[in-house]
Amino acid sequence: MKEIFDTHAHYDDSAFDEDRDVLLGRILSENVFAVVNQGTDLKSSKFSLELAEKYDGVYAAVGLHPELVNENSVSELEEIKKLASHPKAVAIGEIGLDYYYDTPKDIQKQVFSAQMEIANELSKPVNIHDREAHGDTLELLKKYRPKGILHCFSGSAEMAKEVVKLGMYIGIGGVITFKNARKTVEVVSSIPLERIVLETDCPYLAPVPFRGKRNNSSYIEYTAEKIAEIRSISKEEVLRITKENACKVYNVY
Ligand code: NI
Repeated sequence: MKEIFDTHAHYDDSAFDEDRDVLLGRILSENVFAVVNQGTDLKSSKFSLELAEKYDGVYAAVGLHPELVNENSVSELEEIKKLASHPKAVAIGEIGLDYYYDTPKDIQKQVFSAQMEIANELSKPVNIHDREAHGDTLELLKKYRPKGILHCFSGSAEMAKEVVKLGMYIGIGGVITFKNARKTVEVVSSIPLERIVLETDCPYLAPVPFRGKRNNSSYIEYTAEKIAEIRSISKEEVLRITKENACKVYNVY
C-alpha cells in the first residue's frame, strides 16, 4: 500500500547524487504515494520540475528560500511565476523567513510577501519555512492569507492553533521522534489531525532510529508511528488522514 505523502523534500540535494533514480524508483514503487520536492532558488526549482516530469509521484514546489535571498532575488520573481504555471508545480515553496542567519530581514520580508502574492494570484498553496521568525511570519500570514503548509513547525501550540484558524496546515517531520521534542509533541496533541501533514525535509532530519543519517520519504513511517502513539490511534489511521490532507492542500489526486 502506498500510504506515504511526503509534503516537503529536497531530492535535488547532492546527498542523493549517487543513487537518486534508484532510490526514488524504489520508494515510489513501495510505500510512497507522492513527494513534493521544494525549490530553494531558481536552479533547484527547475530541478524539482525536471524530477516531477520524470516521476508520476513527484511534484514540484518552486520558490526562493529565505536563507538564500539577496537584492537579486527580486528580479528572479518573474521567473518563479513562470515556473509556477507548470502543471506539476503544485505550490510556491520553500519560502518564508529565517532569522537564524544574517540575511537582512527587510529583503526577506519583501521576497516572502511577493511570493505569497504570486501564490494567491495563481491560486496555489505555499510551503513556508519559519526559523526563529514566528512573530513576523504570523503577521505576514494574516496579511496575505495564503493557503498552504507551515513546514517543520517549530512554534508553540498557541501559534499552531492560530495557523490552523487561518485555514493552514502544520507540517510535522522526523523531529517529533527526537528526545527533546516536547514542544512539537504538545503541538501534535493540541490541533486536529485533519490539519497535520507529514514531511521529511530530506536529506535532513531523519527520524529515530535513523537520526543523523540520510533521510528519505519511506522513513515517514516512523514519524507516523510516533504521532499514532501521541494521539492513541493506529499508524495506519495517521498515514491515511495525513495523506488525505496533503492531497487536499496540494490538489494532488
Ligand atoms: Ni526544506
